[in-house]
Amino acid sequence: MPASWLKDTVFYEIYPQSFRDTNGDGIGDINGILEKLDYIKSLGCNALWINPCFDSPFKDAGYDVRDYKKVAPRYGTNDDLYRLFGEAHRKGIRVLLDLVPGHTSEEHPWFVESGRAEPNAYSNRYIWTDHWLMGAGGLNYVAGECERDGTYILNFFKCQPALNYGFREPREPWQLPTDHPDALATREAIKDVMRFWLGHGCDGFRVDMANSLVKGDDDKKSATSAIWLDIRAMLDREFPDAAMVAEWSNPPQALRAGFDMDFCLNNPDTGYSTLMRDYYGDVDNGYFKKDAPDRDIRRFLDIYQRWYEDTRALGYISLLTCNHDTPRPRCDLDEAELKLAYAFLFTMPGVPFLYYGDEIGMRYLKLPTKEGGYTRTGSRTPMQWDNTQNLGFSGGDADSLYLPVDPAADAPTVAAQQDDPDSLLNTVRALLALRHAEGDLQADAPFEALCTEKGKPFVYRRGGLTLAVNPSGEALTWKHSLGALTPVYRLGEAIADGDSLTMGPQSFAVFRKG
Ligand code: NOJ
Repeated sequence: MPASWLKDTVFYEIYPQSFRDTNGDGIGDINGILEKLDYIKSLGCNALWINPCFDSPFKDAGYDVRDYKKVAPRYGTNDDLYRLFGEAHRKGIRVLLDLVPGHTSEEHPWFVESGRAEPNAYSNRYIWTDHWLMGAGGLNYVAGECERDGTYILNFFKCQPALNYGFREPREPWQLPTDHPDALATREAIKDVMRFWLGHGCDGFRVDMANSLVKGDDDKKSATSAIWLDIRAMLDREFPDAAMVAEWSNPPQALRAGFDMDFCLNNPDTGYSTLMRDYYGDVDNGYFKKDAPDRDIRRFLDIYQRWYEDTRALGYISLLTCNHDTPRPRCDLDEAELKLAYAFLFTMPGVPFLYYGDEIGMRYLKLPTKEGGYTRTGSRTPMQWDNTQNLGFSGGDADSLYLPVDPAADAPTVAAQQDDPDSLLNTVRALLALRHAEGDLQADAPFEALCTEKGKPFVYRRGGLTLAVNPSGEALTWKHSLGALTPVYRLGEAIADGDSLTMGPQSFAVFRKG
């Protein structure tokens, strides 16, 4: 069963380098997160996911970990992070760290040892072939970098050698079975990292590339899942309140592997990509695009409903506004469109995630790559707080910033939206307040689609509430037999009588029966 505290949880994802710089060095820090906890709370978010904040050469923005147990000096110290856990908890906020179990940095001491010619305790911590010229059966590998006579397998970038959890069916002498003592040692080493942070007060992990542990032909991820179930059993025994969200994007697999939540990511086969944007050539048919010529909620629901029915008894699907790997929703949607998109995301089942800055509609900026970001860099720019120096992100020189702030005269900021009740920021606050106030909008309350026809509003049920959204520019009507409906929240116009519901242009509403 998923951790019970997830039932009424909304996450805020923080990219630490870009959130708030308190020491003027141009890069965000843990103390910056501490400073903004009340702001996060004011949004209605009661949990954080912090991207990797560990010691790293930062060739992949920290997803190349050099020391799993040490906060990167650019963000502060371990003590700062422990203090953050304590302060967050005092304010009712949980904290997930980012666990990167599939690979380390090539500078991690385990890898340095593993690459030595002399066999040692770490020789099998990574996956090596038996000869310096030997390929790796279709897996990406690197040759010619170490003394050792062999090539090594990669998990992602060249700087990220894959940790060795073994192979489901070893086919070559260099492929270990998953129950080989050295493969088990890798698993124990990751458990040790988890125990370390959980013991210091973190509440769980977002797990990077969670489906990538076992290499080769891991049929339906069965061997990878077995490892996660073993790790889950450890958590259940030692840290029963800890939660894990998978970067897997296959909830039927991830939730059966013991994860509490799995993301519905921006992959072509998840449906998320049909919501914020959905290009057919030059034409955007994204569900929330006002002028989408071929709007169809079924493109999302065909996948989502299958997942939901299959997994609702196991755990949660996590819908997100976006994340540090995807274009921001503001890329393709304007403020009115964003309000409807968020209204939908925050009233669906499961545990939603809000990416920092999406609450004010921060833009995606076209920028040169930074720390392995490539096209992702534009979604990673500093949070925009107010109209002071560097939009309140940092007191340092503009030239020293990790990434530039939005140079536009109308760059959205928290301060500019703070006092406007209709701003995107305050709409997010109102939606999340409603979610917390209505048990029927929270993670577990049942979901059912009531009207999914093209040319009609999308109407859905959560528990005893009826919800409707019309992203188009025209009023749309749905004939129903639900009886009287009274709006408890709305954006735009929504008129319900005994047997019809008319949703005005670009509208959203939540109704109670009667
Ligand atoms: C997924 C992370 O979200 C991404 O940012 C990273 O580059 C890769 N995994 C590799 O760790």
